[in-house]
Amino acid sequence: MLRVSNVCKQFNETVVLDNVSFSVEKSDILGLAGPSGGGKSTLLRCMQKLDTSDSGSIECNGRVGFMFQDFQLFPHMTVLENLIYAPTLKNKKLNHQKQARDMLKNLGIASKADTYPRHLSGGQKQRVALARSLMIKPDILLCDEPTSGLDVATTTDVVTLLESVCEMGVTMVIASHDLDFLTKISDRIILLNGGKIVVDIRPQELDDAVDYLKKYY
Ligand SMILES: Nc1ncnc2c1ncn2[C@@H]1O[C@H](COP(=O)(O)OP(=O)(O)O)[C@@H](O)[C@H]1O
Ligand SMILES: [Mg+2]
Repeated sequence: MLRVSNVCKQFNETVVLDNVSFSVEKSDILGLAGPSGGGKSTLLRCMQKLDTSDSGSIECNGRVGFMFQDFQLFPHMTVLENLIYAPTLKNKKLNHQKQARDMLKNLGIASKADTYPRHLSGGQKQRVALARSLMIKPDILLCDEPTSGLDVATTTDVVTLLESVCEMGVTMVIASHDLDFLTKISDRIILLNGGKIVVDIRPQELDDAVDYLKKYY
């Protein structure tokens, strides 16, 4: 589905990604762990072509969606307008309203279609951001820190929510500093430290995956 081969990236003198290679199979949820500054966001940005690597290659079969950290909803647009903005830029003729309303319904926030982001809770903003990133029908969805700023109860909802997205057939790569969350949701976890992959595990196969990963922080 996605193959990252020997990717290197520097910002000035700082090596941020140091010969990173891995691949993601279809319908897998890959967790991207590691301490702050480890290179997680940079790797996701390179995967989405928001940034370019200095060397190496990233090959992907299919459309890539991206869910930003801190949601980045357009504040002056309603929930529905947020969802149809990008698809409408791409194809003006098509009416995207029905797809948007169906998506909101699937994610349990149909009643918020005409609400502005400032009137939503953190968990609701999260759902809107997810709905918006699913509008382009991605084959693979990249999520950067999807639980940051959410309380514990909402984090549990995000696990259920992202699992339901996986069941829609979307492959996912989720970057997070939150190990409890990541071990709950991921089929496989790679840990980036100083731009290198230092761990590659399947958390179900470890009794104490969280403790194991903590050693690298
Ligand atoms: N645009 C940029 N210019 C310079 N340095 C950057 C830039 N973006 C990220 N970095 C640096 O790259 C390193 C990795 O950052 P990042 O990918 O955001 O890590 P993480 O998401 O794991 O916290 C950090 O040292 C950060 O300061
Ligand atoms: Mg980051």
